[in-house]
Amino acid sequence: MEARENHGASKYIIIGGGIAGVSCAEMLADVSPDDSVLLLTASSLIKSVTNYKKIGKTLEEFDVEEKAVSSINTQCANVRAIHTAVSAISAAQHEVYTDQGVFSYEKLCICTGGVPKLLAPQNPHVIGIRDTESVKELQNRLANAQRILVVGNGGIATEIVYEIEGCDIIWAVKDDSITSTFVDCGAAQFFLPQLKNDKSTESGGPMKRLKYTTAETPGVSSSTKGSHGGALGPDWHSGIDMKGQTKKSHNIHVEYKVEVKAIYTAEEMRESGKTADVVPNLTEHSDLLKSPGGDKTLLNHSWAVYAELTNGKIYGCDFIISATGVTPCPPTCLDENQLELASDGGVKVDDNMRTNLTNIYAAGDICTASWKPSKHWHQMRLWSQARQMGAYAAQCMTAHSKGEEMTLDFCFEMFAHSTKFFNYKVILLGCFNAQGLGSDHELLIRVTEGKEYVKAVMQDGRMMGAILIGETDLEETFENLILNGMDLSSYGEDLLDPNVDIEDYFD
Ligand SMILES: *[C@@H]1O[C@H](CO)[C@@H](O)[C@H](O)[C@H]1NC(C)=O
Repeated sequence: MEARENHGASKYIIIGGGIAGVSCAEMLADVSPDDSVLLLTASSLIKSVTNYKKIGKTLEEFDVEEKAVSSINTQCANVRAIHTAVSAISAAQHEVYTDQGVFSYEKLCICTGGVPKLLAPQNPHVIGIRDTESVKELQNRLANAQRILVVGNGGIATEIVYEIEGCDIIWAVKDDSITSTFVDCGAAQFFLPQLKNDKSTESGGPMKRLKYTTAETPGVSSSTKGSHGGALGPDWHSGIDMKGQTKKSHNIHVEYKVEVKAIYTAEEMRESGKTADVVPNLTEHSDLLKSPGGDKTLLNHSWAVYAELTNGKIYGCDFIISATGVTPCPPTCLDENQLELASDGGVKVDDNMRTNLTNIYAAGDICTASWKPSKHWHQMRLWSQARQMGAYAAQCMTAHSKGEEMTLDFCFEMFAHSTKFFNYKVILLGCFNAQGLGSDHELLIRVTEGKEYVKAVMQDGRMMGAILIGETDLEETFENLILNGMDLSSYGEDLLDPNVDIEDYFD
């Protein structure tokens, strides 16, 4: 710790300028307008929720905007934000140590999020996508790329594969279907034709929800060295040009049930005498083949990096995108008062967002919900839960300051997430993939190819979860059915019959 200058005390300090931290600060401005709030952010831009819309009892939609750190003070008079990297905290001293000195708190909320789980952290040919900084790097690299390898099967991998144009993509997923973090194989099947579609010929389609505005000051790097910015929000890619070198819009080859076994440089490939495999389907369309020399050009093409997959295939590419999720990133505690962590590395919090250290709270990707969850809720490190947890932590801190307890917010009653994959609206409700239900559940499915995919997860005649893809208009009804726990066995399969208006039954 270089500077020991003490900046005095704030009632509340929040560490982290991502969605959880900023939502926490904004809620504190709302419920504790007379108390001093200090937000410490490692990034020069903070993320703020805009156009918030509740579209059901638990379902919500919002946009995320990036703003200058100082902007929060214009909106929230009692909140001050400082761009600084936190090096450690001390629960005993009630102090936060930063590169700009020491800050004291009465109550502290840690919202430092996670860092990408990188496939090969030291390899210069592997990039992780997590914050705006890494998206910029992706754009720069794409400008000179002909072929890339995307590893991962979650939301970010799915969006990258869909959004990137003019570049061949090999998509390596560890499961037997795509996007499996969110949807089942039926839904993946529904999406598959989209991988082949030429997006440039698509007519209109639903508009994107978000414009990502960057209010960056020129010459100011958006991350403090050695730290990382907040997670990306919904539709982080819109308005961002993600184009590679080749002309074709979409060339994607999926390798199922694989992981990356080894990564080689061109030199290591030459020395080992290994040869790269030809990518099925991709190569015959590739613009590279049309260049003089045909096949040979491609076969002899020396790629910057080669990945050996667990199925034995070796593919060359310009770079590898590792989108395999995030690891929570707790700050260092200075004394014997350490934060209790869950098995996934997150900071354990109770149903009042408290860690095991007095007056220290945590919210968002950093924390692991360690209360007994309602039967329709589970934690997923998503922006919607980051917002909910940040706002709820602020309410808890305020209540505790007055000696009151909070009862768990209703938003934790049921898992609800709204997103967009392959330009389709996707709504996930409750145990949408039968999470924790055992084997005696049933699935009711209705599919109209290219239009909609509806799946209801049923157990004992009750709806436990659902996946709604496309403009199904069923989200409110299904949300109610899941929350009510109503016995629906008498409807059997008619439940999804488009000619049966379920809503009428339950009004
Ligand atoms: C919190 O948990 C950590 C890790 O389990 C433990 O070392 C520490 O003593 C606990 N502190 C308190 C005050 O319970």
